[in-house]
Amino acid sequence: MSEFPIHPVPPHFADAHINAKTYAALYQRSIDDRDGFWADMATEFLSWDQPWHTVVEGDFSKGEARWFGGGKLNVSYNCIDRHLPERAGQTALIWEGDNPADSEHISYSQLHERVCRLANVLRARGVGKGDRVCIYMPMIPEAAYAMLACARIGAIHSVVFGGFSPTAITDRILDADCRTVITADEGRRGGKVVPLKTNVDTALTSCPNVHTCLVVRVTGSTQAWQEGRDIWYHEATTEVARECSPELMDAEDPLFILYTSGSTGKPKGVLHTTGGYLLQAAMTFKYTFDYREGEVFWCTADVGWVTGHTYILYGPLANGAISLMFEGVPTYPDAGRCWEIVDKHQVNTFYTAPTAIRALHAVGDAPVKRSSRDSLRLLGSVGEPINPEAWEWYYRVVGDSRCPIVDTWWQTETGAQMITPLPGATDLKPGAASMPMFGVELALLDEGGAEIEGAGAGYLVIKSSWPSQIRTIYGDHQRMVETYFSHYPGYYFTGDGATRDQDGYYWITGRVDDVLNISGHRMGTAEIESALVLHEDIAEAAVVGYPHDIKGQGIYCFVTPMDGVEPSESLRAELVALCATEIGAIAKPDVIQWAPGLPKTRSGKIMRRILRKIAENEVGNLGDISTLADPSVVDHLVANRVHPE
Ligand code: PRX
Repeated sequence: MSEFPIHPVPPHFADAHINAKTYAALYQRSIDDRDGFWADMATEFLSWDQPWHTVVEGDFSKGEARWFGGGKLNVSYNCIDRHLPERAGQTALIWEGDNPADSEHISYSQLHERVCRLANVLRARGVGKGDRVCIYMPMIPEAAYAMLACARIGAIHSVVFGGFSPTAITDRILDADCRTVITADEGRRGGKVVPLKTNVDTALTSCPNVHTCLVVRVTGSTQAWQEGRDIWYHEATTEVARECSPELMDAEDPLFILYTSGSTGKPKGVLHTTGGYLLQAAMTFKYTFDYREGEVFWCTADVGWVTGHTYILYGPLANGAISLMFEGVPTYPDAGRCWEIVDKHQVNTFYTAPTAIRALHAVGDAPVKRSSRDSLRLLGSVGEPINPEAWEWYYRVVGDSRCPIVDTWWQTETGAQMITPLPGATDLKPGAASMPMFGVELALLDEGGAEIEGAGAGYLVIKSSWPSQIRTIYGDHQRMVETYFSHYPGYYFTGDGATRDQDGYYWITGRVDDVLNISGHRMGTAEIESALVLHEDIAEAAVVGYPHDIKGQGIYCFVTPMDGVEPSESLRAELVALCATEIGAIAKPDVIQWAPGLPKTRSGKIMRRILRKIAENEVGNLGDISTLADPSVVDHLVANRVHPE
């Protein structure tokens, strides 16, 4: 816990949507009268074509949740059509290009037309309710149109982050049996081009079921073309009608699948449904960011991650907000880019990840001070624990000590923010995710699974269902139950550790499983290990995280070459490249240490606890190593520890 001072709710947030008193009262109601609370919220935030008959049912201990049973609605109608009478001409999306000279405002009526046209193209290609569509796109408005067009016709989108490799795309397409892909010729990022269509072409050589690949022209570079399958987006969308009737969806019909990493095996397709997801996206957006009519909201995430889904697209648009979408990176053309964009588009709320804050902090105050940032009212943080030093810099320098910071804790599986301060209600403690959102019942468990009362540290769990709860892992429901609902029966297991202080504030301490958080991106150690051992010269690999100043965590790999193979710099480079081709550049190891042997128990289990200590340079405190089959391997690993740069 930090010794940094508490920042009380500033006077200019006295008229916020939620103040301390209303937070306490509404939170209490959301727990005591859960059905009544969510029914009121569902009426306030969403437009239903048919009312629900049951707010929630299902056995939470089995991971079952059915929200708003009998209710019917369409997500794209809720995000677009219903705003048209009041906001046809108002901006829905502001797009800022990688090149600072490029930007575009897209009004709600333009959004409507473009989404309808694309939805009609998809329908004409035979895509309908329940079909899975893979979206592999740069951060361009068409990515948003694609997601909304799927929602409009009831297709389930599976967005694959544009930084993933062809192998990763193939795995995800096959897992969900996507038959349609939407992509672009190339993407632009930080002055470089990303060969998206080429990656898709490679991926599709192993995906025979894909019948349609829609391609947005971004750079205009020449592309290989498979007649019949490949279609130019700009041509197809002009040939169809500009109106498209939204499909009537059941509240529990799937909306999207989003792959995320776990501690074992391949990434899993987290499935979210229509009514509950949209409701919690909409409600949290309004309250956490105290969103006001006409404000410009900027979430810097990529649409390939859940933060982009919920807070670039669905939460803002369900509220009729103005959402900014940025194609580039915070450091291009230089480290002042974000603040230039804030001034250029008069951004009121800026929501980013600690890794970006730390990277910008590292280059000093000057690039920030070049901008006025007068429009900023609120700042947000998401994706990993934020260290209090970075928090203070963000608050003092970026926000001129005027803008509260909402440090929001949540996960792909939770769909929306679960723990956060509310700017008009919560006194801020730098580094604390703070308080549960409405309807979120938290607990901390000890090793034995008993609830910890009052202040203390333990495993963070959730005690009851929430509307945007994960419904299943696509194609493997049993894995969902085992991963989240079997560690501690009756509770949803988050995989995170946390402390709760004497004031009831939650402080997230990080993952307690074999999941790494690299620059806010979740990655399973098992995935990286699987990539490393694909190399014919490698016998075994064990991967752990270590603290990294900018990325939060770095990737430290202990690698055992095959007998007779001499470790070399070229082998090291091949392994780094292998991780990039198997997963993506974000999975490149920071450190590779050659390990003639790994510390294993007599039953052959690798003792990662010891490897973590070595990677963290805590070698004086390795704990009990007497149960190892061969304790001498530890001495070798300690003596040859690689110091990360
Ligand atoms: O460890 C927690 C961390 O990110 C994990 C979820 O990752 P993902 O599903 O990719 O979603 C990220 C964006 C919602 C969590 O289990 N995490 C997320 N937000 C925070 C956080 N850790 C600390 N503080 C946060 N605010």
